[in-house]
Amino acid sequence: MENILTICYLIGSVTFILGLKMLSHPASARKGNLIAAAGMTIAILGTIFLYEDKEEGKKLGNYIWIFSGLIIGTIVGTLIAKKVKMTAMPQMVSLFNGMGGACAALISIIEFQHIAHNIENGGGAVHHGLLISIFLGAIIGSVSFAGSMIAWGKLNGNIKDYAYGGQQVVNVGLMAVILGIAAYLLFTLSPENAYWFYIIFAVSLLYGVLFVMPIGGADMPVVISLLNSFTGVAAACGGFLYDNKVMLTGGILVGAAGTLLTILMCNAMNRSLKNVLLGSFGGATKASGGNKEQGNYKEISLSDAATVMAYSNKVMIVPGYGLAVAQAQHTCHELEKLLEEKGVEVKYAIHPVAGRMPGHMNVLLAEADVSYDKLLEMEEANDEFKNTDVVLILGANDVVNPAAKNDPSSPIYGMPILEVEQAKTVIVNKRSMKPGYAGIENDLFFQPKTSMLFGDAKAALQKLVAEIKNV
Ligand code: TAP
Repeated sequence: MENILTICYLIGSVTFILGLKMLSHPASARKGNLIAAAGMTIAILGTIFLYEDKEEGKKLGNYIWIFSGLIIGTIVGTLIAKKVKMTAMPQMVSLFNGMGGACAALISIIEFQHIAHNIENGGGAVHHGLLISIFLGAIIGSVSFAGSMIAWGKLNGNIKDYAYGGQQVVNVGLMAVILGIAAYLLFTLSPENAYWFYIIFAVSLLYGVLFVMPIGGADMPVVISLLNSFTGVAAACGGFLYDNKVMLTGGILVGAAGTLLTILMCNAMNRSLKNVLLGSFGGATKASGGNKEQGNYKEISLSDAATVMAYSNKVMIVPGYGLAVAQAQHTCHELEKLLEEKGVEVKYAIHPVAGRMPGHMNVLLAEADVSYDKLLEMEEANDEFKNTDVVLILGANDVVNPAAKNDPSSPIYGMPILEVEQAKTVIVNKRSMKPGYAGIENDLFFQPKTSMLFGDAKAALQKLVAEIKNV
């Protein structure tokens, strides 16, 4: 039985790695997800039915509890996943991530109770390695759970950024309290002081809330991927606790992938990881920068926009969150094909944090069968703008805001952006002059070479396609 279980775990680990690899390309991502899920199902069923306690030779049992949980979770998860709008996916990812953190923290609490019970009944000394895994699982899991819940509320728009003076000192102080109590318990754990463990748990939850509260504006992507990596590490602690290879592998892979993504996001936002960990960036200052009087903007008619684009050599499309809201990716692909039929070269410029989750634009465009080699990464696109006749911005705002380059008082100052103003003409499609996610004005809209094409992205693109057919 043990050998079969080891094979199940091997299948789980290999499929997880394969799945991750396949997730790195939109064309294979869906299949990769299914392969990894199938492998994990084998590992979970193997654990439920084949695992035996080495000392007592007992199976897991508790089948009613386990399967009730699995069935309820599957039904709720499937219903939510089917109902959720593509634009609300980031909130859902935050919620799922928070649940992972909560599971890891609960595992630690239950295992700690076993140990405390053992000590009370005169059991021998506790292994330090075991206690460290329990503490880390509880701390990281609760920070991840509380932080993800706040991130969920912020992405939903229900929780506002909240910053106060000295927040860094408070955050560092709380972390010191958590680590101090953990170190104290590690060496002195007894039935009398075991309750301190629950204080670690409570302070970690508070830390998770305070750590994410001030972060906002354009900086949420970094915190989301960081919390994701926290959940992975917390799950890996559970793997150590139970000496469960597949849980350990899964946790390490999620932790490592999340950390790599965090570093990529930090680079994309030009922020340092240290600042993220101290909760000292973004948000709350959002109204202070870039909101000065901007002057006049000009509008372009659909027929003029169609003519300019149809007679140009090269058009670069900049997709943003608004394209996802309007679900206009298919019409956008139609426009691209139409322009190419007229001999216009069409490319897409993808900013790493465009939209509301990592890879949002890539997934959106892949869904509409846009060829992957038409997508240019930010650096590549920035090199090509000077040879571009028309940039068509579809529901993007912060990622093309020049304040990031030339206004040190702006909350997004320092963030690399798509330098669209290098092109000959810029056409911006959005519904109004309202700001984007970071809540700041965009000077680009008021520049002489920019024209506004107001309207919902899908409706505007449909009309543009019709107009271009007549050019
Ligand atoms: P935003 O700056 O949020 O701008 C989106 C624009 O789309 C808005 O100005 C809005 O203007 C317009 N819009 C909304 N609905 C539309 C519709 N139906 N048709 C046409 N336009 C529509 O988007 P972005 O440029 O993609 O930048 C992303 C922002 O989100 C960054 O600040 C980024 O840091 C943040 N963020 C990103 C992530 C990740 S991981 N990508 C996660 C969290 C936050 P109107 O209201 O006037 O139409």
